[in-house]
Amino acid sequence: MVEVKDLCKNYGPVHAIDHVTFSLKKGDVVGFLGPNGAGKSTTMKIITGFMAPTSGEARVAGFDVFESPLEVKKRIGYLPEVPPVYTDMYVRDYLTYVAQLKRVESSHVSAWVDSAIEKTHLESVANRLIGVLSKGFRQRVGIAQALVSRPDVLILDEPTVGLDPKQVSEIRDLIKQLKGEHTIILSTHILSEVQAVCDQAIIINKGRIVAEDTIDNLEQLEKGTSALKVRLRKSCDLKSLFSSVKGVQSVQGQETQWEIKYSGEDVVHDEILAQLVQSRAGVIEFLPKRMDLEDVFLKLTYGQEGPA
Ligand SMILES: Nc1ncnc2c1ncn2[C@@H]1O[C@H](COP(=O)(O)OP(=O)(O)OP(=O)(O)O)[C@@H](O)[C@H]1O
Ligand SMILES: [Mg+2]
Repeated sequence: MVEVKDLCKNYGPVHAIDHVTFSLKKGDVVGFLGPNGAGKSTTMKIITGFMAPTSGEARVAGFDVFESPLEVKKRIGYLPEVPPVYTDMYVRDYLTYVAQLKRVESSHVSAWVDSAIEKTHLESVANRLIGVLSKGFRQRVGIAQALVSRPDVLILDEPTVGLDPKQVSEIRDLIKQLKGEHTIILSTHILSEVQAVCDQAIIINKGRIVAEDTIDNLEQLEKGTSALKVRLRKSCDLKSLFSSVKGVQSVQGQETQWEIKYSGEDVVHDEILAQLVQSRAGVIEFLPKRMDLEDVFLKLTYGQEGPA
């Protein structure tokens, strides 16, 4: 349904995206995950035809984004980072206007507008000016305009940014309800959002895709590795203490706080504990830490050390 091949975009010397390639099947719900400046919005702007790439190609439902922009726009609903809502229009009028702009058949316009309002729970504000709505409601209007034309593909650029926790959870529920009806790409820098809503994740960092898989498989990436959180009474250099212990993969931290990663065998765990006791640094905490998608994400996007 969406195919992106070798896509590059340079802003002067900045490689915003660098040979990005991926493809989505009909019905996929994919999280496009990466830190600020990773290239998420740039990729989305190219897929939706709002911006030309420096090189590479993008196709939606088989249509090239630049050779057949109208065919592509017909099939896409797009919520940009800043929702494209007209503050001096009424919610229902605005959605009607968008539906007409997107060439929805006139006999369907009213029913499709109603159903977009219903799906995004905008009934109570349908006759209000967009300009007087709260941020959360405006964001819902943004989502409603993306889905009013019943597009095959929904592209949502950080749909929950700036919302309070209740609204975040409502928007996530809404996106879950839209599953099955649309192929969805959702960008975010919040990992839990991808886990809550998506089946797959594409992790992008500095313009390059660093991982692409199902959420389950990405979580498995760290399987076989175990981690221990250690807190000591006295400062002790665990990096040198464990430098020659077989099975220990990495030691991070300083003075009294450390994290030790090792390949998942009990003998290694026992050996680490024995060495710690022998060091007489005083073990206050010795906690196994579950490796999860957060660790995969941090490792892939920031390297071993985590964010600065
Ligand atoms: N119009 C522009 N001119 C110059 N550089 C730009 C422009 N737009 C984006 N960039 C740069 O391209 C890179 C990717 O930006 P992009 O907006 O795609 O990132 P993003 O992943 O959406 O980040 P965020 O999470 O902050 O929205 C960044 O380094 C950014 O500074
Ligand atoms: Mg962005």
